[in-house]
Amino acid sequence: MKKHKILIIGAGGQLGTELTQGLWNLYGKENVIATDIKDPQGILSQGNFEILDALKQKQLFDFIKKNSITQIYHLAAVLSATGEKNPKFAWNLNMDSLIHVLDAAVEFKLDRVYWPSSIAAFGPTTPKLNTPQHTVMDPTTIYGISKFAGERWCDWYFRNKGVDVRSLRYPGLIGYKSKPGGGTTDYAVDIYFKAITDKKYECFLKEDTYLPMMYMDDAVKATLDIMEAPKEKVKVRSSYNIAAMSFCPAEIAAEIRKHIPEFTISYNPDFRQSIADSWPKSIDDSAARKDWGWQPAFALASMTEDILQNLPALLADEVEK
Ligand code: SER
Repeated sequence: MKKHKILIIGAGGQLGTELTQGLWNLYGKENVIATDIKDPQGILSQGNFEILDALKQKQLFDFIKKNSITQIYHLAAVLSATGEKNPKFAWNLNMDSLIHVLDAAVEFKLDRVYWPSSIAAFGPTTPKLNTPQHTVMDPTTIYGISKFAGERWCDWYFRNKGVDVRSLRYPGLIGYKSKPGGGTTDYAVDIYFKAITDKKYECFLKEDTYLPMMYMDDAVKATLDIMEAPKEKVKVRSSYNIAAMSFCPAEIAAEIRKHIPEFTISYNPDFRQSIADSWPKSIDDSAARKDWGWQPAFALASMTEDILQNLPALLADEVEK
């Protein structure tokens, strides 16, 4: 079997923290190098970790060469809400780092590259229910525009340079092992933290705002599954729709109340409401299911149960430290 040496860029983020552990389990800690622009928090310091800035092309290329990297997971990005506050920075970071990684894949003949897209690549005139794999895409946030453009770059590098790049359009990702990272869907992460610490939550979206969501365990599984799939099965080289569940703030609150009866929610929508309103409510992921066997395991009830079972101990540990 070919030996893999894996580089994760942006490992300190919400997805990166958990994906790094998935990659440790699959390939062994010694074959995975997690990197970010900031020092590692928590669990990441238990494996190989280095500071790396993917905006610096020479630094990136030297790193790949020195460590004989064969695969890259490029996760670094500015998310939707943060990106609107500093659009040019978000655009430069999201695009330049991707192009550097794709160029590195050509230069060093990398085995494969992973790069995430998002439901943010869709926009107000995209069909909102069961959004098809191939459809109108008119993103309105800088984050979404960078994901849409990034998808086209990935497809271009696959067609013209033979780069084996694979990508998923994540819905809102919900995990409890790291704090929310500036996204519009992140209310669904924050709400669990506040349910435990304050027994109440003020939501920045309206109560009936439906968005596609996914538990982090499923997101990690989907990512590893598409990266492990035989090359010929990965037929979409822009990015695959994937789905698990759709819910609105009122529904997640009701689910939390089954475990914490005194929990209350109030609503105070802000600029993130119009971002949420421009995105799909549910996603058709039949292409991913058919091509490489995607299937989610978690729905709202099972996810809530899992988080509310594990998060209190994690928060108690933090207080002790
Ligand atoms: N979770 C992201 C955001 O809300 C969407 O991919 O920005």
